[in-house]
Amino acid sequence: MPDTDELAAGFEAEFERTIAADQRIEPRDWMPDAYRRTLIRQIAQHAHSEIIGMQPEGNWILRAPSLRRKAILLAKVQDEAGHGMYLYAAAETLGVDREELTEKLIDSKQKYSSIFNYPTLSYADIGVIGWLVDGAAICNQVPLCRCSYGPYARAMIRICKEESFHQRQGYELLLAMVNGTEAQRAMVQESVDRWWWPSLMMFGPPDADSPNTQQSMAWGIKRHTNDELRQRFVDMTVPQAAALGVTLPDPDLRWNPERQAHDYGEPDWEEFKAVLAGSGPTNAQRLAHRRRAHENGAWVREAAQAYADKQAARSRKEAAA
Ligand SMILES: [Fe+2]
Ligand SMILES: [Fe+2]
Repeated sequence: MPDTDELAAGFEAEFERTIAADQRIEPRDWMPDAYRRTLIRQIAQHAHSEIIGMQPEGNWILRAPSLRRKAILLAKVQDEAGHGMYLYAAAETLGVDREELTEKLIDSKQKYSSIFNYPTLSYADIGVIGWLVDGAAICNQVPLCRCSYGPYARAMIRICKEESFHQRQGYELLLAMVNGTEAQRAMVQESVDRWWWPSLMMFGPPDADSPNTQQSMAWGIKRHTNDELRQRFVDMTVPQAAALGVTLPDPDLRWNPERQAHDYGEPDWEEFKAVLAGSGPTNAQRLAHRRRAHENGAWVREAAQAYADKQAARSRKEAAA
């Protein structure tokens, strides 16, 4: 009979083979602790971002300028809630529970995307968030559909389909505004000026400052580096900005024929670190709101639990009869 060391080596070899063959790791499979921890951290952070990300846009639901805009925005914000749910469910397959992850979020022990710590100051922000923020999310998330962890990859396929609707509704809103009045065009430009740099920061720190990237790529969790994805986003966005007639607020942004890509300026990484560390314009407000919503939802969770207990007791009684 093999001893435990031999068994462990066998499991590890099987894991390595699965990754090398670009097949999926499933919840029942053995996986290294560090792989599990990395995934829990990443999926939780992703789920939290979807949930916190409802706040800046939710802020405008009651002030949408027409019934049509309101219906679109409501659908979009509800999608984000759904994304949070798929992702918490994917995280649960790794042996953590949603309650625990929510506690960590509201106790500031886990992070969410820095982008949601900026305020939404005008209705143009709804368009710009769809265009740039959901656009950046798509660049980040499409490669995750091929992530080595099965439940995460499958959740991402559905999420990405909905994200492309988000990006389009944003762009369509901006098209309407730039074809409107001078004041509307100015509102769009002012919004683009505020969101451009935070959107570039959504890809994370430059590769040289991203110590976990190499390991995540070796495990097939990440498929491209932060800088590769950021470049892809810039190249995709520049022609869209031109079509809208807006200027991206970067004097260093220009086409580089040698690289066949755009050169662009350096985001303010000090600002990025400060926002991640909790001192962004709305960090405290976002967490306080989330905490309040969680407390206000306690009775729903208790009622659902009481109902589940009652159902379980009934089926036990039926089974015994
Ligand atoms: Fe989303
Ligand atoms: Fe979205």
